[in-house]
Amino acid sequence: MEKWMERLTEKLSDAFEKAGYDRSYGKVALSNRPDLCEYQCNGAMAGAKTYKKAPIQIAGDVVAGLKDSQVFSMAEAVNPGFINLKADPDFLVGFLREMAEDEHLSVEKTDAPRTIMIDYGGPNVAKPLHVGHLRSAIIGESMKRLGRFLGHKVIGDVHLGDWGLQMGLIITEMKHRSPELIYFKEDYEGPYPQEAPFTIGELEEIYPAASAKSKENAAYKEEAMEATHLLQQGRPGYHALWEHILHVSMADLKKNYERLQVTFDLWKKESDAQPYIPEMVRYLKEGGYAHLDQGALVVDVKEEGDTKEIPPCMILKSDGASLYNTTDLATIVERMKLFHPDEILYVVDKRQELYFTQVFRCARKAHLVEEDTKLSFLGFGTMNGKDGKPFKTRQGGVMRLENLMDDISKEMYQKIVDNRSVKAENARETAQIVGLSAIKYGDLSNQATKDYVFDVDRFTSFEGDTGPYLLYTIVRIKSILNRYQEEGGSLSHGSLRTPTCESEKALMLELTGFAPAVEGAFAEKAPHKVCSYLYGLANAFNRFYHETKILSEEDQAQKGSWIGLLSLTRQVLETSIDLLGFSAPERM
Ligand code: ARG
Repeated sequence: MEKWMERLTEKLSDAFEKAGYDRSYGKVALSNRPDLCEYQCNGAMAGAKTYKKAPIQIAGDVVAGLKDSQVFSMAEAVNPGFINLKADPDFLVGFLREMAEDEHLSVEKTDAPRTIMIDYGGPNVAKPLHVGHLRSAIIGESMKRLGRFLGHKVIGDVHLGDWGLQMGLIITEMKHRSPELIYFKEDYEGPYPQEAPFTIGELEEIYPAASAKSKENAAYKEEAMEATHLLQQGRPGYHALWEHILHVSMADLKKNYERLQVTFDLWKKESDAQPYIPEMVRYLKEGGYAHLDQGALVVDVKEEGDTKEIPPCMILKSDGASLYNTTDLATIVERMKLFHPDEILYVVDKRQELYFTQVFRCARKAHLVEEDTKLSFLGFGTMNGKDGKPFKTRQGGVMRLENLMDDISKEMYQKIVDNRSVKAENARETAQIVGLSAIKYGDLSNQATKDYVFDVDRFTSFEGDTGPYLLYTIVRIKSILNRYQEEGGSLSHGSLRTPTCESEKALMLELTGFAPAVEGAFAEKAPHKVCSYLYGLANAFNRFYHETKILSEEDQAQKGSWIGLLSLTRQVLETSIDLLGFSAPERM
């Protein structure tokens, strides 16, 4: 369906044309002065030069033609040449009726769907999922949902880190602890036991222990690097151990992501790109893209106009070992081959930005991707504690995601129980749902690129710009709609009537902003735009709600109209939170 702003612009463009000016000056925008008008057009100012006329004169000519407009209830020329506008209430209601009938709530699916791969999550196998990986999962999931809603084919890939030094560290530590295990017997080629020689709990203790040792003990670190190398060379015992690590760890990761309501289409991992490396290296060498620099194989990626030094992209270390870069480049080769994406979007900590600049330039220069394949980076800032430092446990350790979610759920549980609106047996489940909104909205409502402070008290509050406030608003609407239905009413939109008060019209106007919010958020990779839209909509609803006695209204047609408005508001709110990756409970 045709967009709201386009409809307004079209009408104003007609008026410009009718007054003898070019249509292109008729662009309508939201007003900067909501106290004076809802919309404005600055085209008369822009046209002054062309027509050698005072802007106010042009504005006056245009406005004169809008006297009997069905679209604008107010059109005023004001000095020095602005056109201030208000939408006609019935025209607005007409739009909302169409919107309510539209299964996409006025958001148009793209007519040029693209295949977009999103690389997000990025946890490292065998390391517990900690808050550092939270942002990638939350932001990436929202980008995926937004893209799909707009009609793109989006493939989410978790891209597990399973091939780095952490693997060698675990293998080394296991060898020190249990050298008798069959995995360490050099001349043995298998078969190996089905059962892993550790539990997830043990695994999570082994890694930090090994990591700490390697920092103090150079020989130990050397051993771990050697083990990593042997694993990558395919030594059978190490490979078998690695598979165990992967299985045990993945089961745990899946549990965590499920709780976060984050789902991936692909559970690919760094190691999956290994088979592509030898061929890629040969290609880079033979094509003259890569050259040796002090024994290492590198690709120069600096470009004219760089304002800072972009170091070469290293493909192989001097000992022939591959690196993070190598894997990422080979993964690009693999993705192009298997999925042929139009775009690959990486949702990763912004501290990796320079690294991705190198990788992208290398991929482009060596034509590992096609000319028009987009490689994009959505770098996010750090989640800090109230002290402004990266978020930690009270004891100062790395906060595990599970524990963070438990803490928030407990906090929410307490609030819900205090509210007494939910039966005790449902309070735990409700607390989980509301807690998730607190975490996700707390994150997403900040511009992704910025650092933000994870403030448990603020994020779990039922008031202000928070997830729980939005859910509370939705629950409030649901309860009115339920009561209406219990009284025998039916929810239909056709009944929408002319707004009766200012707050009702304001709510209606907010509803028209849904499509631009969703489209803008996706195009600019900025889910926070959906958040600020939602907050404005929830506020507009609550203002209307406090001024209107809906259920006790005697005029049934009027009541039905308000119910229709509520039901549309609820649909928009629920669809939006779904795009952010959370949902609302029935009560709270
Ligand atoms: N595992 C990496 C980390 O923890 C993030 C992976 C990001 N994705 C990628 N293709 N490099 O830093």
